[in-house]
Amino acid sequence: MTRPYTICLVAGARPNFMKVAPIAHALQARNKAAGLAGIDLRFSIVHTGQHYDVNMSEVFFRELGIPTPDRHLEVGSGSHAEQTAKVMIAFEKVLLEDRPDLVVVVGDVNSTVACSLTAKKLGVRVAHVEAGLRSFDMGMPEEINRKLTDAISDLLFVTEESGMRNLRAEGVAAERIFLVGNVMIDTLLRNVTRIEKPEFAPSDPVRAIRGTGGRYAVLTLHRPSNVDLREALAPIWGAIAEVARQVPILFPVHPRTRGKIAAFGLDGTGISMVDPIGYLDMLYAVKGAALVITDSGGLQEETTALGVPCVTIRENTERPVTVDIGTNYLTGTRPEAILSAAREILSGKGKKGVVPPLWDGHAAERILDVLMRFA
Ligand code: UD1
Repeated sequence: MTRPYTICLVAGARPNFMKVAPIAHALQARNKAAGLAGIDLRFSIVHTGQHYDVNMSEVFFRELGIPTPDRHLEVGSGSHAEQTAKVMIAFEKVLLEDRPDLVVVVGDVNSTVACSLTAKKLGVRVAHVEAGLRSFDMGMPEEINRKLTDAISDLLFVTEESGMRNLRAEGVAAERIFLVGNVMIDTLLRNVTRIEKPEFAPSDPVRAIRGTGGRYAVLTLHRPSNVDLREALAPIWGAIAEVARQVPILFPVHPRTRGKIAAFGLDGTGISMVDPIGYLDMLYAVKGAALVITDSGGLQEETTALGVPCVTIRENTERPVTVDIGTNYLTGTRPEAILSAAREILSGKGKKGVVPPLWDGHAAERILDVLMRFA
């Protein structure tokens, strides 16, 4: 006799997809071993629809081999309250019908907090993957999402030592916290060999920039505090334009940022602005770059894992290991600081960095080891 153990894995927005992929694959791989242990391990994937464009969502499922979602909540865009509320209402219906034993949420997006809160109120256990990260900046929507999700999660899976310290300081019981490494880096390591194979065909703009022989930069910029107001974006853009006089820049533009650049009439000379690109294209572009400039959370970690120097245009980071031992420069938003870090890197004196402990491609397996103990 086996007893069922049903896990619901939530995916909502672009940065979730590369984290969900290795967990889904580990769940598939664990099925047989679970059966031998008397457990009928089943899982379903719920896509909230927070991100819905083909190039913000579907391309990641296709490229990373993530199983097609069993449920699609199709919530779409909206204000924070609207989006969070819509996810909660739709997810509650799914939970009431499916009655999983555990909900697994990843990262720090609105879907993460919405689904963990909904599950917890229905008495369903919650596991949070990428728990414990703190920027200590409550002006960031992601920081609110992280703190709330961690406060109600039953199992907390942590990527770096700072996360362990933060959770202990918040009084989370030690037996619920697990340092397992980084599932996003599982995905990176699994795919980094694919882009070197002859059958990999990058898109035209990515092929063109790689053709420059490594003297190029990759830029991403989408954080509301950096792009929503002209007074914030214009000086940052000025520094980036200066970097573009030294090396060409590939800029896959988030939909919101594209609108702002146009509205503020900013000049993009030397900057190749393209629509958001897929996972493999991005990995190929970043791996070959001399420098990455970003305000993203995930790219700070991916560049550290790849040994590519990264300039992070933010005043704080919830991923301090990337600065302490990795390749990350936390410059803030002052143009002089951005330029000075970029110059140091382009002169060949950039940080070489080391890869943080446990970022070894096996984080999802460690998570499954723990989940099976609690089955
Ligand atoms: C979300 C996450 C952020 C993450 C980012 C990555 C939260 C609070 N923020 O921010 O942590 O770094 O995703 O992309 O969850 N849009 C489209 N097509 C889409 C999705 C969005 O055009 O498929 C446009 C819409 O105009 C939308 C805007 O982008 O209003 C913002 O999308 P939203 O999901 O609200 O937040 P992000 O800024 O993408």
